[in-house]
Amino acid sequence: MTRIRKAIFPVAGLGTRFLPATKAMPKEMLPVVDRPLIQHVVDEARQAGIEHFIFVTGRSKAVIEDHFDRQFELEATLVERKKQADLDLLSQDLPEPGTTSFTRQQSPLGLGHAVWCARELVGHEPFALLLPDVLVQHPRGCLAQMIDAAANLDAKANIIAVEEVPMDRVHMYGVVGVGETKGKAFSITKMVEKPKAADAPSNLSITGRYILQPEIFDVLEKQAAGAGGEIQLTDAMVALAKTQPFYGLKFDGRSFDCGSKIGFLTANVSYGLERPDLAPELRAELKRMLAEK
Ligand code: G1P
Repeated sequence: MTRIRKAIFPVAGLGTRFLPATKAMPKEMLPVVDRPLIQHVVDEARQAGIEHFIFVTGRSKAVIEDHFDRQFELEATLVERKKQADLDLLSQDLPEPGTTSFTRQQSPLGLGHAVWCARELVGHEPFALLLPDVLVQHPRGCLAQMIDAAANLDAKANIIAVEEVPMDRVHMYGVVGVGETKGKAFSITKMVEKPKAADAPSNLSITGRYILQPEIFDVLEKQAAGAGGEIQLTDAMVALAKTQPFYGLKFDGRSFDCGSKIGFLTANVSYGLERPDLAPELRAELKRMLAEK
């Protein structure tokens, strides 16, 4: 497969599930330990070799653009105070000049529409799509595993990360049907957005990481609204699957749905427990709290 150079991050959502925290602040800026959600997801993309980061934003999301830029006043103060470690941290995370692009989804018409808004910035090449609500905790992240799997698949393959969820939760996700195994991946026979348990083709949910071919934009251009009255990416993928292969990859690692409060809270605990500077004290505190409650 052609090298995957570009990634889309849809960050236009309103974040109503986290009100009032997200009244004036984008949900993507909520921190998991000391990095905003969006930074964790950009880290994963960088680690997978992505070179260009495309953000589909919306009104009141300007702070995301600021986060990926320099902050001169802060840097000057840190220099004055000789805080070299903090300066190093900031410069490590700073994208190379010219490697970020921002475009706006002007109306909240759904994930499919958000992806379509990035068509001019992606151009005619396969690309990655990472939903910033989902964090995957694994030393290599999820996207790098997908790019590895892509090396053994057709040039025009589309790949979706999937994981098992309990049957009583399938109605919250896109769900895939399982066909033949191909290396670490399997061919997808069916995709349904937010099915009832009785209609779900399996308990494998779409996890928020995709590698897609640019032809998806042509389909999205004409895509009618689906579940929830929104232009659904899953519906466009179903249409594209008539002419191009789709594969699922059960990735290694643990995912957290940070769009839900439990997912967000457990992500903070789990990422905290992986930090050598925090883990011993956090572990002791958690033990004490659990014994008391
Ligand atoms: C979106 C996708 C869905 C996927 C989910 C993963 O849904 O439409 O297929 O399973 O992300 O988080 P949303 O959570 O935006 O409703």
